[in-house]
Amino acid sequence: MNLPSLTFTRYPPHHLVSPLYSKLPKATARGKSVDSVAIEARNLNFSFTAKQTKDVTVLRDCSIRIPSGQFWMLLGPNGCGKSTLLKILAGLLIPTSGTVYVNGPKSFVFQNPDHQVVMPTVDSDVAFGLGKVNLADDEVRSRVSQALHAVGLSDYMKRSVQTLSGGQKQRVAIAGALAEACKVLLLDELTTFLDETDQVGVIKAVRNCLDTSEEVTALWVTHRLEELEYADGAIYMEDGKVVMHGDATRIRSFIEDRQSAYINQINS
Ligand SMILES: Nc1ncnc2c1ncn2[C@@H]1O[C@H](COP(=O)(O)OP(=O)(O)OP(=O)(O)O)[C@@H](O)[C@H]1O
Ligand SMILES: [Mg+2]
Repeated sequence: MNLPSLTFTRYPPHHLVSPLYSKLPKATARGKSVDSVAIEARNLNFSFTAKQTKDVTVLRDCSIRIPSGQFWMLLGPNGCGKSTLLKILAGLLIPTSGTVYVNGPKSFVFQNPDHQVVMPTVDSDVAFGLGKVNLADDEVRSRVSQALHAVGLSDYMKRSVQTLSGGQKQRVAIAGALAEACKVLLLDELTTFLDETDQVGVIKAVRNCLDTSEEVTALWVTHRLEELEYADGAIYMEDGKVVMHGDATRIRSFIEDRQSAYINQINS
């Protein structure tokens, strides 16, 4: 699903940025400081307003910063607010307060592979989003071919999408975003319904897209700790708050310690 671009947007307009944001560490990639930022959220708060019951507060003072060209992961227990944060970054939900910047164009890819594909064949599906821009046929063919190459599906160009596995459908959706020159991919638990082979295929496809283009940045929501080995950085949330932000290995150890402490507690 491709979305219009956002510039820095402050909610509500008079909201002041609190000093907490300045405590985020400066982003680094392979030891070097990174100045260009693809995704920033400052002091985001979000509540669902309900008519019959009390409002549900979902995000509390969340601040994140993701450098351009990097693959970051967002983790946390069920219901901690990951999808809500991703939807705010995508512009699908409006926060109660805070500031959002996401480089554009951006694309949101959903969990269910069958919700991603709309056209009968792989190449027509990847080209689908290009219909709204006026491009020469050669340019369309070239973009489709490059995008399918990036996700490892060059040999599937003429295949019926109905014959693809769930992971291959996810990769076709990602190729569609790349063909439209998306700069930011927002990916919500793509591997949940996939078997191990498909799971690895999708995550490697995203990693390859970022390794072959410095312009693409991805934020990937997951529960699978083993996927962190592909990440340049990670964010861990609990109860609507950002608890950790930065090094993926450190965050993996933190979550593993949390899980062992929980298992020990229920076994004692
Ligand atoms: N439309 C809604 N109205 C009220 N509350 C909602 C709504 N959508 C989500 N919530 C609540 O917001 C909280 C965060 O939900 P969210 O889907 O962002 O969590 P999540 O971290 O993505 O969880 P999961 O890992 O299960 O996908 C949950 O308590 C959820 O029940
Ligand atoms: Mg979710």
